[in-house]
Amino acid sequence: MKQALATVIDNRMIAQGMHLLRLEEPDQARAVRPGQFMHLRVGEASFDPLLRRPLSVLRTGVSPVNDLPAGQYDLLFDVVGRGTRLLAQLRPGDLVDVLGPLGRPFQISPGVRHLLLVGGGIGVVPLVALAEEAVRRRIAVTFLAGFRTAAKAYPAALLPREVEYIISTDDGSAGHRGYVTSLLPDFLQWADLVCACGPSPMLEALARLERPRGLPVQIAMEEHMGCAMGVCLGCVIPTRHGPQRVCRDGPVFDLEEMDWSWPVLR
Ligand SMILES: Cc1cc2nc3c(=O)[nH]c(=O)nc-3n(C[C@H](O)[C@H](O)[C@H](O)COP(=O)(O)OP(=O)(O)OC[C@H]3O[C@@H](n4cnc5c(N)ncnc54)[C@H](O)[C@@H]3O)c2cc1C
Ligand code: FES
Repeated sequence: MKQALATVIDNRMIAQGMHLLRLEEPDQARAVRPGQFMHLRVGEASFDPLLRRPLSVLRTGVSPVNDLPAGQYDLLFDVVGRGTRLLAQLRPGDLVDVLGPLGRPFQISPGVRHLLLVGGGIGVVPLVALAEEAVRRRIAVTFLAGFRTAAKAYPAALLPREVEYIISTDDGSAGHRGYVTSLLPDFLQWADLVCACGPSPMLEALARLERPRGLPVQIAMEEHMGCAMGVCLGCVIPTRHGPQRVCRDGPVFDLEEMDWSWPVLR
């Protein structure tokens, strides 16, 4: 983990309200693993807003399966409030104070041959990094992704072509109509690892599905955060092993660890 001033290389909208922010900071680009996140100071030289904003890493230039130069990495964010509005205004050449990479990444054990990814909305971000890693390791990847509408969908062109990418939209404007979880049952026998990220109701639906015995499922949680250093306890979630900090003990957890009976996970 490093605190550094990263240089903005590019910042552009690639889908409705979704900005792809390309940064250059070679140590961070080299160190990051799929599922980890960066904590960005979003105000200019001031401390307003006081809190940094966490964003997962989408792609890194270390991977040979994309066209990013080494030393650079991409973030993708949805503009939802003041912090992300400020990030959307960054221009090439600006400097951003970035802390990271942070958190526990996804783990693909050596025996995995078929990886099933399940993303909801902006939750696709850490799964794109994981898809690239899996392709690099010659693992077959099917990526199921659900969006509210076609204009918000992550573009297929920004995924390695080896990835089977299947989308659903709530309004039926692209791909299958309905929730992404309705596509899952057809793929559960094929997969030997499932990794997911998205809104809590999506993850909870995944938890309720009948799965082949022993099929491991890892999920990345996106709780509100304060320090992202394990100190403030602002990101604690309940698990079967007691309270856990999303920033340090996660954001990636085994699905089996989650305790869905608590309203905080809804
Ligand atoms: C580990 C982690 C990884 C993340 N990765 C990404 C990413 O790759 N791309 C991305 O767009 N967003 C990601 N997020 C969420 C992102 O951090 C928030 O959207 C962002 O901080 C909002 O800042 P803001 O100032 O624009 O909005 P605020 O003004 O702080 O909030 C605006 C609205 O967004 C909601 N919100 C804020 N933070 C979160 C959150 N963590 N989860 C759910 N709702 C939230 C608020 O409740 C409010 O309704 C991630 C969060 C975590 C914890
Ligand atoms: S954000 Fe402070 S402990 Fe996790």
